[in-house]
Amino acid sequence: MSKPIEKREAATKAFFNEMASTYDADVQVLGWDPVEVVKLWPFMIFPGESYLDVGCGTGALLSFFSGAQRKLSAMDLSTEMIAQARRREDLKQVDFVQGSAEAIWPFPTDEFDKVTCLAMLEFVEHLDVALDELLRVMKPGGRALFSVEDRIDWLDTDRGGYELRYGEFPLWRRSLEEVKLYLPPGAKIVKSERQRGYEVTELGFTTAYHVIEIEKEYT
Ligand SMILES: C[S@@+](CC[C@H](N)C(=O)[O-])C[C@H]1O[C@@H](n2cnc3c(N)ncnc32)[C@H](O)[C@@H]1O
Repeated sequence: MSKPIEKREAATKAFFNEMASTYDADVQVLGWDPVEVVKLWPFMIFPGESYLDVGCGTGALLSFFSGAQRKLSAMDLSTEMIAQARRREDLKQVDFVQGSAEAIWPFPTDEFDKVTCLAMLEFVEHLDVALDELLRVMKPGGRALFSVEDRIDWLDTDRGGYELRYGEFPLWRRSLEEVKLYLPPGAKIVKSERQRGYEVTELGFTTAYHVIEIEKEYT
């Protein structure tokens, strides 16, 4: 049985609070860079558009998209990750909110032209709640780019425990078909691609993400 959501989120938050000061250096070693994902996709935020990054971490994506009169907003569970992001000179105008993607998001309906949510949904058990909220805050015609960690076929049973990658709390890995089941009506997949994730250094194993772009349909 899974832990109550409050306990699980407290463990996730404590984990990211603790790693916040070394996060940028750590992900370089693990080979994960969300900026590369949006550049290569390409996922664009046009000048003047409103943009929300959920699970913003230390603010790498926000920093990439700062400037050109874009209106930047961000949410993260970890106060320390937000504190790191706030240190960036180019993010002084960002509207940062501490909150969980697994609850009602503290943003109005039909608010954002663009939303990103990269390398975060694997920490969310109730994907349906997060995707409902993601779609709700998007403007009709708006676009979102998000990733879900792909399932791993653990043929070697000795590795079973690694499904609980972070020990204190589980990771949720999903197939593309599962994501499609959770997508609310009104979300149209524009493009999806399976991409390299991050390295599990102790196993010499590289994870994979399904990166998915959706559009909110006009009703
Ligand atoms: C692996 S980091 C990814 C950060 C950034 N998006 C990137 O790609 O580098 C995951 C981030 O998601 C945040 N997070 C985890 N669970 C969350 C939740 N339920 N709601 C919002 N943020 C969450 C963590 O605090 C952390 O900052």
